Amino acid sequence: MGYKFPKGFLWGGATAANQMEGGFHEGNKGLNIADVLPGGKQRLSILAEPGFNFEIDPNKYYPNHEGIDFYHRYKEDIALFAEMGFKAFRMSIAWTRIFPRGDELEPNEEGLAFYDRVFDELHKYGIEPVVTISHYEMPVTLVKEYGGWRNREVVTFFERYVTAIFNRYKNKVKYWMTFNEINSGLMMPIMGLGFAIQKEEDKYQPTYQAYHHQFVASAKAVKLGHEIIPGSQIGCMIIFAPTYSFDCNPENVMYALDQERLFNFFCGDVQVRGEYPAFIKRYFKEHNINLEIQPGDLELIKEGTVDYIGFSYYMSRTEKKNKTQEEIGQGNMIGGVKNPFLKASDWGWEIDPEGLRISLNKLYDRYRVPLFVVENGLGAYDKVEEDGSINDDYRIDYLREHIKAMGESIEDGVDLMGYTSWGCIDLVSASSGEYSKRYGFIYVDKHDDGSGTLERSRKKSFFWYKDVIASNGENL
Ligand code: BG6
Repeated sequence: MGYKFPKGFLWGGATAANQMEGGFHEGNKGLNIADVLPGGKQRLSILAEPGFNFEIDPNKYYPNHEGIDFYHRYKEDIALFAEMGFKAFRMSIAWTRIFPRGDELEPNEEGLAFYDRVFDELHKYGIEPVVTISHYEMPVTLVKEYGGWRNREVVTFFERYVTAIFNRYKNKVKYWMTFNEINSGLMMPIMGLGFAIQKEEDKYQPTYQAYHHQFVASAKAVKLGHEIIPGSQIGCMIIFAPTYSFDCNPENVMYALDQERLFNFFCGDVQVRGEYPAFIKRYFKEHNINLEIQPGDLELIKEGTVDYIGFSYYMSRTEKKNKTQEEIGQGNMIGGVKNPFLKASDWGWEIDPEGLRISLNKLYDRYRVPLFVVENGLGAYDKVEEDGSINDDYRIDYLREHIKAMGESIEDGVDLMGYTSWGCIDLVSASSGEYSKRYGFIYVDKHDDGSGTLERSRKKSFFWYKDVIASNGENL
């Protein structure tokens, strides 16, 4: 017996503008953070180095500049999504296409017109756009001249940006999310919060102040969205990595709970419940964090709670209070220690489908709002056979097990809106800037050294996913 996914379940795929569009200087687009990120596994640490100047170095290779050229090939790509039967397509709008510097008063018409064309093309096939407003692509001007989200003025710029896109696309886009993986700023502030933490600097105060500004901005966006687009659904978007205690030692259990709350639940508690939770107030006190909160902010945060929770799920995290350096090194990208029960991907991300069911249940138990898995997938090396076929059974296995976990959680009573697997078409990896870390059902002939024809082809998983969608999750 197959699983029963709800009628109207939003099956599809997910992407981000900076990782696929290319055309980085076309249509009057301004520079964003991703445009100054060189390719290679060290890219995130380079960006956070003291003295990094957010400029393009002619001696380096920048894969996001060309992406997979979706900017020019969106029609072909959307036709392929339609062939798979997508009900939804998650994408982001590049802030710098709409406001090239970020602080202008008027939006850039060429940028607005580009997304009109993309949304029209999606609607031609009955595909619902699910739009992330800000996905790791903050305008460089706002980073360099304003200090990113730690500057309150950025709230005004963001408000201007969302007002422009809500007004323009009010008849085309119903599903929105404010900040991609908002809690990622706790790990790498530069991508989500738009500033680097320098070693000598106290990280706590600026980080949480920047979060306060994002929460205010998110609440404003939710309120504006509901006013401008009646019936719209505006979600938050968090990384969720369920946190397990390494063993049953209560010290470790408490430590895991603390880590889970600080990383997984802090942002959700504010954006979904509309208030700062008690555990974070204690944390603020213990770390001497004094937020500058303007009159009306807390009321606004209370009023602007989100309609649903979008989240990414790639891995779980296993925690232990006292870890050796060696144990730390063996953990996942987001921390913790190695889980002896799990295998990892070629990039060391531990594969844990049961963790998705755990996440869905934890989130639903806590918040009781609809959930949307807006990212999940396996980054893997693919091999093109002589006849051109790509037999990515490992990807099918990964996705099948995660879809089963969603089916189980629906049986558990979780209200799940949809599933958009990450990188439905191969694109540039966010953390490593590689093309070779592939997630797609659609292969793109493009390689880490920049070579390749950009030609698209269907992998084995393409046909498999098409059948999953056509059977509404019954045929796995
Ligand atoms: C999420 C991001 O962290 O994971 C995406 O929202 C990213 O932008 C995805 O691409 C997968 O990570 P990576 O590093 O493999 O591209």
